[in-house]
Amino acid sequence: MRTHYCAEIDEKQIGQCVTVSGWVASRRDHGGVIFIDLRDKDQVVQLVCDPADNVAAHKQAEEVRDQFVLIATGKVRARGEGLENPNLKTGKVEIIVDDLVIENRSLPMPFDLGDEKVNEEIRLKYRYLELRSQRSYDIFKLRSKATIAARNALDALDFLEVDTPILTKSTPEGARDYLVPSRVHGGEFYALPQSPQLFKQLLMVSGFDRYFQIAKCFRDEDLRADRQPEFTQIDVEMSFCDQEDVIAVGEKLIHDVFDKCGFEVPEKFPRMTYHEAMEKYGTDKPDMRYDLAMVDVIDIFARCDNEIFSGIAKTPKKNRIKALKVPGGDTVFSKRQMKGFEEYVRKFGAQGLGYFQMKEEGLKGPLIKFFSEEDIAEIIQRCTLEVGDVVFFGAGEKKTVLDYMGRFRIYLAELMEIIPAESFAFLWVVDFPMFEVEDGRVKALHHPFTQPKSLDYEEIEEIESIAYDIVLNGTELGGGSIRIHREAMQAEIFKLLGISEEEAQEKFGFLLEALKFGAPPHGGFALGLDRMIMLMAGTDSIRDVIAFPKTQRAQCLLTQAPSPVDNEQLKELSLRLRQKIQTEG
Ligand code: AMO
Repeated sequence: MRTHYCAEIDEKQIGQCVTVSGWVASRRDHGGVIFIDLRDKDQVVQLVCDPADNVAAHKQAEEVRDQFVLIATGKVRARGEGLENPNLKTGKVEIIVDDLVIENRSLPMPFDLGDEKVNEEIRLKYRYLELRSQRSYDIFKLRSKATIAARNALDALDFLEVDTPILTKSTPEGARDYLVPSRVHGGEFYALPQSPQLFKQLLMVSGFDRYFQIAKCFRDEDLRADRQPEFTQIDVEMSFCDQEDVIAVGEKLIHDVFDKCGFEVPEKFPRMTYHEAMEKYGTDKPDMRYDLAMVDVIDIFARCDNEIFSGIAKTPKKNRIKALKVPGGDTVFSKRQMKGFEEYVRKFGAQGLGYFQMKEEGLKGPLIKFFSEEDIAEIIQRCTLEVGDVVFFGAGEKKTVLDYMGRFRIYLAELMEIIPAESFAFLWVVDFPMFEVEDGRVKALHHPFTQPKSLDYEEIEEIESIAYDIVLNGTELGGGSIRIHREAMQAEIFKLLGISEEEAQEKFGFLLEALKFGAPPHGGFALGLDRMIMLMAGTDSIRDVIAFPKTQRAQCLLTQAPSPVDNEQLKELSLRLRQKIQTEG
């Protein structure tokens, strides 16, 4: 139905007869001569239907409307002087139509294709139309290129691509499971995998040595701009390796994928410990495209005359006092903005937000009277303050201070527009704690299959693990760890997590058993493919890079999933709905 794609029509075809097919991007009637912009997958070419050239084709063109499907045959000619369109790849030529077939008609579009400001509900309901836009095509071309590049990179490193089951048993990755009722085993359920974690470990026990999978994962969790209930991981596992070996594979993979997609990135990425990331940037995924690092000043505040601050400074293990310098901030922030900053941090639990301004005549600010001259000099030196700088202080309970100061850092960077566009700052964050304690409950920070560095500890939160995350521009792109490969250690970790022996057997008995059959040392990682494409494409919504995404409320507006099922089907699955859930749903 075509001799050429639209993109192939250029000056080389002048004088040739060609056939192109696609959709009407626009149609203009210029006093008898009708111009049609015909678009196929990725380019537009101009068709000219002139009654002086061909009456029948012109008559057909009169019926044509936006997004009709056309097959057009005609001769390519150069556009007249001054009529060229430098914005189009095909802008120097046009096709004089000899034969025009209207292959299909179209209803008027429910929204302007390519207009990103249109209400998302409409765009998702007609997602197949939104995908007809140039922007979407470009994103999915990038996604396809990246996926193929990942496969090739891992294939070249001798990794074996293996599929693992979708109907399976729960794998804990910190979210709720999506459950699938079994018809054959009434009252029993499969879980959709939150990741292939346990199966990839089992493949190491099988001796496959190097595994990968472009794996669909399912997590029932609160959705955000970079989270979907159904997403894709580039999932990797390898045997007889240490952290360095895994990181080297991760760097090679990421470098190859970005390179094949036309982005220049370094071959090796910097590293930072979890502890340093938290203390300097208040997050385990710092955006390294800009600095704005926090400085510890709790020891200086311990000596000040203000009881609130010196009180906080008395317990430096539990509390933090952090300084965040904004170079030149004193000259750019208005009084109102400074007030707004305090309101901003209060939303995240701050009691207030102190600040000092570095003036010609010295350090100024409401708190200055509480400090000795030596300590003022120490603040200036430690924060490397210069005239025109402003330095903010957060003081209070450690977790709260790190959290709101970390958020404030990002807020300021965005406000001051200091984040360089189109740049990639990768960072490995290493030495994650093994556990976190929330409301008295011990939880695994990564997952319970992660190898601890050692089990000698005073407080459980001090235990470090051989776990690492790869962070890109402040987003967690991926994570992994060296795994526990001895059954006794795995059983011990379950115990520390408060999982009883019985529960461990019931949930992970197959893994504990497998570890007894010669499990090799192994480790790996998984990269979020969707997040990677999102960052490459420069979009801030993960939904843009998934062909048929779900809404923030985990619905597919196109197919109306999830949807009720009839009683017969429920009965077959041995299920009966409680009235309450039905009405809530
Ligand atoms: P983790 O849970 O860190 O690790 O997931 C790895 C990466 O997957 C991406 N990701 C998501 N992307 C979109 N929507 C979501 N809901 C979502 N959840 C996670 C992120 C994340 O960094 N089994 C381990 C990996 C391992 O240890 O090998 C795991 O799944 O980019």
